[in-house]
Amino acid sequence: MTKYIVKGGTPLFGEVEISGAKNAAVAIIPAALLVDGVCRIENIPQISDVSLCLNILEQLGAGVRSVNGHTVEIDCRRIRATRTPYDLARRIRASTYFIGALLGRFGQAEVALPGGCNFGGVRPIDQHVKGFTAMGAKVTVESGFIRAAAKTGRLHSASVYLDVVSVGATMNIMMAAVMAEGNTVIENAAKEPHVVDLANFLNSMGANIRGAGTDTIKIRGVDRLTGGSYAIIPDQIEAGTYMAAVAAAGGQVLIKNIIPKHMDCITAKLQECGVEVEEHEDTLLVRRTEPLRKTNIKTLPYPGFPTDMQPQITTVLSLAQGISLVTESVWGNRYRYVDELRRMGANIQVDDKTAIVEGVDHLSGAPIQACDLRAGAALVIAALAAQGQSEISCVHYIERGYENIVTKLRALGANIRAIEVPEDREELGLG
Ligand code: EPZ
Repeated sequence: MTKYIVKGGTPLFGEVEISGAKNAAVAIIPAALLVDGVCRIENIPQISDVSLCLNILEQLGAGVRSVNGHTVEIDCRRIRATRTPYDLARRIRASTYFIGALLGRFGQAEVALPGGCNFGGVRPIDQHVKGFTAMGAKVTVESGFIRAAAKTGRLHSASVYLDVVSVGATMNIMMAAVMAEGNTVIENAAKEPHVVDLANFLNSMGANIRGAGTDTIKIRGVDRLTGGSYAIIPDQIEAGTYMAAVAAAGGQVLIKNIIPKHMDCITAKLQECGVEVEEHEDTLLVRRTEPLRKTNIKTLPYPGFPTDMQPQITTVLSLAQGISLVTESVWGNRYRYVDELRRMGANIQVDDKTAIVEGVDHLSGAPIQACDLRAGAALVIAALAAQGQSEISCVHYIERGYENIVTKLRALGANIRAIEVPEDREELGLG
């Protein structure tokens, strides 16, 4: 088990290169199942969620060849299996994408009920099921598996109105529909950059998808997707996390390899807090020299402020002058990390979906534990800004979604290192 030891209080200076987007990669890799040819995927982030997805594909029978650390070639032509390995699939939320991809390719799928970050409640998939059912599939849950099968062997088109804006349902239905008969329409679709990236990937392989990035996505079924080459977009949330780290710890950092448009919702809020952000073609220069100011934030589907940045921005606001209100409107309970911030001296009260954040002068280092991916990122930010030493445990959550975070932060002058501790000692908090 790994822990991070962070000596805080050092401003960050330098340049950081943003990796490919996790939430695009974990959809595009299963989508390779639909391709009748070799697809070369570039800008793949080296994170454990991606390794798991590639592993599931290999276990299904795909050829997966690493060209270099960030490029893989995937050949799914010989796959016949439609059941994902139970233990791998249940460890990651994105394994649900294998349902849409297997259904789309074979008309049937068996995938273990997924895991992934736990926000204090069940993460439903009723909207995915609604879409598959409308397209002629029967979906059941048996023995820990979701089983879906097209009643006539092949899915047909449908018009699906999503009752909630769901990234996962939008992407899953899109995958199921690319080779279905006729024209499928998804209304009230999610508009996140990774939704658009999946559509662009599928189109580059021969699909006919229009409207991704708007509320209405139209998919005309095609007979076959052929191979090709595709590069994944940069990770909006990884970039936002480094911006928040500079906001909290101070300093000046050039965030490289980003799409500035994707960052607008985060940039605007950081600027309200007194952080300077200069936009260039594919970089952002982030500088914080003045004290932070309060602001109010409500998480919303894209282009609103992303829920996946909520823990990081709440951490920044815990150091801002005045009282800020943060409202989480995507997930029922995403404030479990707040107890850990309180150990460091943060003054935050949570009332249902709202965090009332009264800024403090400083945070102080403490032993703290990550409870999910973005919560873990928030604790790293808090530890970088805090006075004294923090020990962060359960960092495997962080490594699910942040490539080389320790190396990248060290290059910015942060005093952070990873140490190995025996498993039982970490669980007891003694390591
Ligand atoms: C994706 O999860 C992301 N994960 C999450 O990022 C992110 O928090 C979330 O989208 C929202 O942006 C991946 O892309 C792998 P949703 P997903 O379906 O698809 C409700 C991270 O930190 N809902 O958009 O599971 C649901 O309860 C991760 O990188 C239904 O009611 O999220 C939630 O309130 C964590 N029924 C809302 O919709 C459904 O069938 C949005 O969920 C599906 C969702």
